[in-house]
Amino acid sequence: MRETTQKINSVTLKKHRALRGEMTPPPDKSISHRAVFFSSLAYGKSMVSNVLRAGDTNSTINAFRMLGVEIEEMPDGSLSIDGPGFMQLREPPDVIDCGNSGTTTRLLAGVLSGCRFFSVLTGDQSLRGRPMGRVIRPLHEMGAMIAARDINRYLPMSITGGGLKAITYKMPVASAQVKSAIVLAGLFADGETVIEEPVKSRDHTETMLKAYGADVCVDDLKITVKGGVELSPCDMTVPGDISSAAFFIAGALMVEGSELLIKDVGLNPTRTGFIDVIRKMGADVQVLDGRELSGEPVGSLLCKYTDKLSPITLSKEDIPSLIDEFPILCVLAARAGGVTQIRGASELRVKESDRISAMATELGKMGVKIKEYDDGVAIEGPVELRGSNNLQSYGDHRIAMALSIAAISAEGESVINGTEAVGISYPDFYDTLKGLTH
Ligand code: S3P
Repeated sequence: MRETTQKINSVTLKKHRALRGEMTPPPDKSISHRAVFFSSLAYGKSMVSNVLRAGDTNSTINAFRMLGVEIEEMPDGSLSIDGPGFMQLREPPDVIDCGNSGTTTRLLAGVLSGCRFFSVLTGDQSLRGRPMGRVIRPLHEMGAMIAARDINRYLPMSITGGGLKAITYKMPVASAQVKSAIVLAGLFADGETVIEEPVKSRDHTETMLKAYGADVCVDDLKITVKGGVELSPCDMTVPGDISSAAFFIAGALMVEGSELLIKDVGLNPTRTGFIDVIRKMGADVQVLDGRELSGEPVGSLLCKYTDKLSPITLSKEDIPSLIDEFPILCVLAARAGGVTQIRGASELRVKESDRISAMATELGKMGVKIKEYDDGVAIEGPVELRGSNNLQSYGDHRIAMALSIAAISAEGESVINGTEAVGISYPDFYDTLKGLTH
């Protein structure tokens, strides 16, 4: 398997001087996945510019190639995706390896449930430990034949799809991946599938599918999708990833003398919880040049060093719009004067790593007073972060990047092990960091 052959890297970092200048974050991971999914399902050729090329999105591209979709990289880096039509995908000749990518796995489970052939999904050690029952249950209800390890809980999972019927489904967890899996299965189902979310999660699937010609209606937390509608190709450009930008936003806020312009960032309101929260904490972040790009709001963010941050209290409703920013938010909270509470976030225990335990352990090594709860953390600040020569990424890209930003604002030297994980969403992370330091 991939994880036994991958080289484990470490990076040594010490306190940086100001982060200054401008940078553009990598393309949005969630939107890139979906652009490949929907273009592959459409009948005809779509051109997608600025697609993220990283571990996770390569898993999605490989999967659709195995399903018979022609995906070609153009000289300018954009992808030409020639879909055979959503009823014409072909049986994959081998097991599909989704690598580290939960989005690839869960969204594919929805698509494959609609396909009248046999397929098997697996992934790396982290992905094989992540819950799949949350997609298997509604897909079973729609009529897909799915079997998975440990009584239908974990990968590998086998799917024999086809003959789906529409359902009405009230989601027990707020998850854009689960919502998207059911919406995608709904495209193949007979009738109208209705999904209700407990809290609004990222809405790229709903927004983008409309541009591909799907019949999707959104009424607050309720999404209705009509089955049997052929998707048409669509040309689009992917905006920058706010979840990747978040590391540099935090770096600029914490490293004295910083002033950083982060350009062309996606600012979809279902993704900007981190910006709202850090502003409440007192951060100096301005949005410049706000506009629309392929149906998504984008803009540039001017971020300046802030010597005073206030603590914040977050609960269940606040989590979905900043779910991936938890690790870096913990680092910022250590700088705030008082106790920050982040609760209602038990989902973080089943991400690429257990992010609650990972951040509590690793920030503890850097001198942060952090208390772990089942569903979150309490962090008491302000503390002067202390370098540690034994920080671990747990194989998780966002833990590696959050600890790296902590390291550049800490006294002394830090060694972060397992930094190869950044290749999952941000292969150029360390080059960008080096280029911004003066
Ligand atoms: C994603 C949804 C979120 C997020 C993940 C990407 C997506 O996961 O954490 O990084 O692209 O739909 P959940 O839907 O499981 O919360």
